[in-house]
Amino acid sequence: MATIYDVARHAEVSPATVSRVVNGHANVDPVLAARVRDAMRELDYRPNAVARNLRRSRTSLWAVVISDIGNPFFTSLVRGVEDVAQRAGYSVVLCNSDEDAAKEGQYVSAALSEQMAGVIISPSGRATHVNRLADARVPVVVIDRQVRGAAVDTVLVDNEHGAELATAHLIDSGFCRIACITGPRRISTAMQRLRGYQRALKRAGLPADETLVRFADFRSDGGYHAMASLLELSPRPDAVFGANNLMTVGLLERLVDERVDVPVQMGVVGFDDVPWANLVRPSLSTVAQPTYELGRTAAELLVERITAPARRPSTVTLHTKLHVRESSGRRTG
Ligand code: RIB
Repeated sequence: MATIYDVARHAEVSPATVSRVVNGHANVDPVLAARVRDAMRELDYRPNAVARNLRRSRTSLWAVVISDIGNPFFTSLVRGVEDVAQRAGYSVVLCNSDEDAAKEGQYVSAALSEQMAGVIISPSGRATHVNRLADARVPVVVIDRQVRGAAVDTVLVDNEHGAELATAHLIDSGFCRIACITGPRRISTAMQRLRGYQRALKRAGLPADETLVRFADFRSDGGYHAMASLLELSPRPDAVFGANNLMTVGLLERLVDERVDVPVQMGVVGFDDVPWANLVRPSLSTVAQPTYELGRTAAELLVERITAPARRPSTVTLHTKLHVRESSGRRTG
């Protein structure tokens, strides 16, 4: 009797492709799928019903898809997920989308074809791949970012409020020409933090000057070059709000390269707390996210979703905290 391996050899595809065709997955190249069906017919292949049913039962694996494995923000977030997963009898597979939708799609395809028990995902912008999971009835929780058009469990922080507090603090410290370096427009955290910055300016009666806003990439190089561009303005800004940890590192590097004194010539607040914030001089003011709690909460929602698939989706918003340190102190110059 022909086996899955005979069919794979005959169709010149991998056994995993044959398995995806047998289990009716949508993400198989149509040409390959046709070759597999022809081979099954020619070899009179009968899928092992027991094996197929076994394949339909999900594994004890969760996929955690993060948007940038180089960003320490995700370290304690994933730790929070894993502690809950282990207690619930699941193992975690870490996937890095690199803020790239195509790469995110590859990992979602892998989660589907490997029959993973659940997915926690920090999406790279759109709902496309989140909806592929939801449509396949795979339990999924979106974390850190929001996506429009996906009715799924979501765990966020109060980005807009945190950014508004940071900017209001800079205003209260006497800064009045405050710049903002935020992330890509397609990402909710970038736009929510920008809105918080703009709301604080408006409440203080300060103009929302678009020349003081830069859209970067949530990475240090992007922060570095955005700060360089802002320093070419005349007059220069007298403070800057960095909308995530890596871009704040980059903008600080540029300020050091150009020997700009912090906070006398440039006040600084960064979104995301960092372990070294108190070790540098001046110490860095930040908006801290509860990263471990983000991961723990998302994992608890995923366990609930696995056990009660029909439950209405919920959104949990955790609170940020402003840590005022020396980099945003009252201007003494
Ligand atoms: O540095 C990580 C944070 O910035 C996360 O909130 C991520 O979404 C990015 O916005």
